[in-house]
Amino acid sequence: MINVSIIGGGNVAYHLIKHLLRIKDVRLVQLYNRSLESIHQFKEVVQITSDISTLKKADVFIISVTDNAIMSVSEAIPHSNCLVVHTSGSIDMNSLNSKNRKGVFYPLQTFSRQKKINFSNVPICIEAANENDYLLLQNLAEKVSKKVYRISSQQRQYLHVSAVFVCNFVNHMYTIGHSICKEHNIPFEILHPLILETAEKIKLLEPTAAQTGPAKRKDTVTIQHHLNLISTQYQKLYKQLTESIIRHNEKTL
Ligand SMILES: NC(=O)c1ccc[n+]([C@@H]2O[C@H](COP(=O)([O-])OP(=O)(O)OC[C@H]3O[C@@H](n4cnc5c(N)ncnc54)[C@H](OP(=O)(O)O)[C@@H]3O)[C@@H](O)[C@H]2O)c1
Repeated sequence: MINVSIIGGGNVAYHLIKHLLRIKDVRLVQLYNRSLESIHQFKEVVQITSDISTLKKADVFIISVTDNAIMSVSEAIPHSNCLVVHTSGSIDMNSLNSKNRKGVFYPLQTFSRQKKINFSNVPICIEAANENDYLLLQNLAEKVSKKVYRISSQQRQYLHVSAVFVCNFVNHMYTIGHSICKEHNIPFEILHPLILETAEKIKLLEPTAAQTGPAKRKDTVTIQHHLNLISTQYQKLYKQLTESIIRHNEKTL
């Protein structure tokens, strides 16, 4: 049995708590959040608190709060020599306070409270300052997910910046496509199969090999036509992305 306490009540903590409650070899000892509202719904099944000084000992404390608050929250844990991990993609493991043993439990997925998620398919990137703690975290992570990876703090920074490109920036492209469609009374759902096929294809082909479109073909007439169709706000972005695709393809030829 692994005794776990969760610190935080946001998007990640919410899904993690729900999932951990279903795992029989894991016991949720306590939930802490600075405000009780977001963890209130779990009060019948787990002890909840908004007073960090009342946290009981646990095998693992998982801090899942805003990146900026991780350091101060780890300092406020009223125990020493316990395993404390955070769930951030960008914060170094060594930012955690040194009175406790340190680790990272980074679930690489986009979480929103309103959207259900199957945690068993979420890659968990783990790291620990010592090997015994690594084994404990690995044991916990393997109960949580089928996909567990050993990733150092240094690798995690690069993984996180890659995630910004493949998720956050791609989503912004959806936003632009959506607004262009809306402006011209075109249902955005016509693009859904294209979006899904693009994402599916890179499981089989390397992204460079999967690239299609006017920039890949250096179709300058179409490129100029697109630039004439869109607002100046998006022209700059279109040009930069087009040049990036052309340069990348020249390098890989
Ligand atoms: N969302 C994602 O897709 C995602 C994916 C992977 C990893 N992560 C990482 O997981 C962590 C949590 O992200 P999230 O999206 O779940 O955050 P979130 O939904 O924005 O929730 C933020 C949490 O931090 C708490 N908090 C904010 N400032 C605080 C402070 N000064 N002191 C104490 N607690 C504070 C909030 O408490 P209140 O409820 O009282 O405001 C809330 O529990 C972050 O490290 C993030 O990088 C997020």
